[in-house]
Amino acid sequence: MKNLSGKVVALTGAASGIGRCLAIQLAGKNCHLALADVDEEGLRGTIALLPAGANVSMHIVDVANRMRVYAWADEVVARHGHVDIVINNAGVASTARLDEISYEDFDWVFNIVFYGVLYGTKAFLPYLKQRDEANIVNISSVNGFFPFPQNGPYNAAKHAVKGLNQTLMQELRSTNVKITSVHPGGIRTNIVRNARFSGNGANRGKKIIEFDRVAGTSAEKAAKIIIGGLVKNRKRQLVGKDAVIIDLLVRLFPQGFSDMVGFAADLKSRKENEK
Ligand SMILES: NC(=O)c1ccc[n+]([C@@H]2O[C@H](COP(=O)([O-])OP(=O)(O)OC[C@H]3O[C@@H](n4cnc5c(N)ncnc54)[C@H](O)[C@@H]3O)[C@@H](O)[C@H]2O)c1
Repeated sequence: MKNLSGKVVALTGAASGIGRCLAIQLAGKNCHLALADVDEEGLRGTIALLPAGANVSMHIVDVANRMRVYAWADEVVARHGHVDIVINNAGVASTARLDEISYEDFDWVFNIVFYGVLYGTKAFLPYLKQRDEANIVNISSVNGFFPFPQNGPYNAAKHAVKGLNQTLMQELRSTNVKITSVHPGGIRTNIVRNARFSGNGANRGKKIIEFDRVAGTSAEKAAKIIIGGLVKNRKRQLVGKDAVIIDLLVRLFPQGFSDMVGFAADLKSRKENEK
């Protein structure tokens, strides 16, 4: 999608982090925005940061609620006339080992991170097919091609998003709809502050400090890279130097790198338990 000016973008998770920065930068490119989130106050905060005169509508949507996502797609078309781009960005995380995590927390992550993307894709697809050109940008993660310990539901859901994206690329290849699978590394946002913590990973304050230390890319920079991928119709977009390095390590040492990360996490957790 070379020219974004005047395009209608439906964006989830727009109240914070990457989604907020995407909204600001897309409004700066004269996109018309349909912003969705569960966090009404955060959405209002995002809208207050948009350039004066931006064409924007606000929608309270829980992406895990299938009926609500379909109703939102209809609302967007009723308000803006059509839709050109969908960015399924809303996400949450949890920190716990698989043997400790409750099914309730597993489902919470999976329903938002995977089913939210599936509903957002399927609900908008009939509208996108009506356009001469259209794009779906689905946010996966480095966790979509490499799992990190204590992130079981997030790893599984982001791998599933990657699989969904590749399936869409195969099935929609001869249509007007282009797919971008986005894989960010550590981005400084509220993702860990908003996460659920349980079991051995329950040290919330410490996990937040650790994440802020290793997350090497700002949300502004991440949004810029994602929009760059959209404009170039990239099928796969890595975000951040860490994502590029992890991608390389996975290709070079598929099992060895995984074993090493598992070993390091095991050592760290044993040391913490000894304290
Ligand atoms: N921050 C990172 O390091 C990182 C890395 C890789 C991928 N990602 C992905 O980037 C995306 C954006 O996350 P972020 O880092 O900006 O986090 P964030 O917590 O700052 O923003 C996430 C947004 O999603 C919204 N949200 C949560 N549950 C929702 C629901 N059920 N329905 C609608 N909205 C909901 C939140 O209210 C919030 O506004 C997510 O998909 C996340 O998994 C983030």
